[in-house]
Amino acid sequence: MSVELESKLKEVEEYIDSLELEGKDKVTKRSYLIHVLHRAQEIIGYLPIEVQKLIAKKLDVHASDVYGVVTFYNFFSMKPKGKYPISVCLGTACYVRGSGDILEEFKKQLGIKENETTEDGLFSLHAVRCVGACGLAPVVMIGDEVHGRLTKNDVKKLIKEYRERG
Ligand code: FES
Repeated sequence: MSVELESKLKEVEEYIDSLELEGKDKVTKRSYLIHVLHRAQEIIGYLPIEVQKLIAKKLDVHASDVYGVVTFYNFFSMKPKGKYPISVCLGTACYVRGSGDILEEFKKQLGIKENETTEDGLFSLHAVRCVGACGLAPVVMIGDEVHGRLTKNDVKKLIKEYRERG
């Protein structure tokens, strides 16, 4: 395990300890599962097996239950995000202006599904709700850069632009 992952696991552990669940009953502890998984994903960026095992132990649930929840919800990811995470806004303003087609075009061009990362580690693809830039709909965020008023014909060009950055 990398030193970086180790220190992040420690951070997750400290967060769970701060919830003061020690001594609480099983049902109460389990009720925190989704909340803790969200926090862990914020801290680490994804949910590797190591953190799932830690959460299972701390919340007194079976590791297979944690795995079941992680794989059931598509907002949880077991793989690290790409260097350039692509977030396609599917909020109403963007959706009515065709962001669904843009998402499909990214899938086609990159050969990945939502919440997957390309083999070269450059891109991962995510669907998000309103990012607060509705005036520019349809909007795609790549990393923290906003791209607005896109059509599906812009997808190829955008991918090329970021690929060239390396
Ligand atoms: S709905 Fe896409 S930015 Fe608001």
